[in-house]
Amino acid sequence: MKIARFSRIGFILAAAGSAVGLGNIWKFPYITGEYGGGAFVFVYLLTVLFIGFSIMIAEMLIGYIGRKDTVSSFESIAPTHKHLWKYGGFQGLAGLFIMIFYSVVIGWIFHYIITSLSTLPASIKEAESTFNTMLHTDIWTQLFYHSVAFVWITYVLTKGIKGGIEKMNLVLMPALMVILVGMFIYALSLDAFPKAVHFMFAPDWSKINSEAFVVAVGHAFFTLSLGMGAIMTYAASLEKNSNIVKAAFWVVFLDTTIAIVAGLMLFTFLYQYGAGPAKGPGLVFISLPAAFYEMGIIGNAFAVLFFIALAFAGLTSSVSLVEPMVQYFIDRFSWSRLKASILMGLFFYLIGIIALLSNIDGFKEALTWGDKNFFDWVDYFTAAIMLPIGGLIMALFVGFVIDKRKVESILKPQLGFAFEAWYFSLRYITPVAMFIVMLNLLGVF
Ligand code: PFF
Repeated sequence: MKIARFSRIGFILAAAGSAVGLGNIWKFPYITGEYGGGAFVFVYLLTVLFIGFSIMIAEMLIGYIGRKDTVSSFESIAPTHKHLWKYGGFQGLAGLFIMIFYSVVIGWIFHYIITSLSTLPASIKEAESTFNTMLHTDIWTQLFYHSVAFVWITYVLTKGIKGGIEKMNLVLMPALMVILVGMFIYALSLDAFPKAVHFMFAPDWSKINSEAFVVAVGHAFFTLSLGMGAIMTYAASLEKNSNIVKAAFWVVFLDTTIAIVAGLMLFTFLYQYGAGPAKGPGLVFISLPAAFYEMGIIGNAFAVLFFIALAFAGLTSSVSLVEPMVQYFIDRFSWSRLKASILMGLFFYLIGIIALLSNIDGFKEALTWGDKNFFDWVDYFTAAIMLPIGGLIMALFVGFVIDKRKVESILKPQLGFAFEAWYFSLRYITPVAMFIVMLNLLGVF
């Protein structure tokens, strides 16, 4: 059987589709708001450039050499201790765990597309109560849209790399970009635009502390889809003789540009019509709809388009979160793609229902341990623990385990004189940074 491979543009769009997700459009603007704007953006950009970009190349390299699911790739590439290194591939599980809450959030977005067609909240207060009512009391709406997300994502996965993942990304990614650029151009015409630029790019260094640094590093990983084998699994379907460095560059470039465009646009709207930037995780579901309301009828159109773009971003990321484990069962257990996709889909769908219930009054109490409910625990466990560990393993694997000559033979022609700098960063800078992030998130300091 001929193995399906991405076309060159298909790979870049699929990897960018994985990277551009809720992290860019929902999370980046609100953490930028929380950590004071320009100085935070500056640290984030440096992190993306020096740490994110180098791990992106490393992760693509493992997939590109390994050619199989993450576990088999680690196992076949490791020169010794294969049976131990193969566990490096199980970080693919992190993606499946992330889907437990990611799918629920995509469900909220679907719901907001539909409701924005007719009504928008007239004030922040109203927006807050609408959102909280859905979150804490409305099981059926959330369950319905969570189910829609499950069916959509699973269906695309059953169609495989070419007919499912590549095809969806080839349509949704350009559509997403057109919507965002269109809204950005409108934002450019508003008086508040310079204010948004100032907020995002004028650094106030007093706002930068160790926590902001750690959040920036963690976010660079999450937003670039690193450390979980998503990019690795996609890279396993690259044509031989592909230019990894170029592909990595495009993915990082698109992801960063889209985050900045989305941020500038949102902050312009919030300054012009709303309550300003620092509004936390509710920014997109609470402050923004209230700002859209102030725009009048065009606000409804904008709200619908915005949530469609957000849904597209979330869906293209979702398939990449599940695909590593789908590929794992296909390669290691000879499951059919249909069986692997449905069973992995059911995994996140069913446990996702528990995550959904853990926000609902009446169930919340039984599903809360310590200061977090199940939903937040899954988020915390994946982002704080699994993700940095995955990143660390990949950096160490490419930096110290794979024979340098092998790495050099593939990457030196692509990186040129920058090869040594990249290698150094991968061996020393990245592991130390990841370690610090992990300790901080675990509350050690
Ligand atoms: N990069 C995605 C986002 O920014 O929302 C999330 C993500 C997708 C993380 C795939 C990790 C991953 F493997």
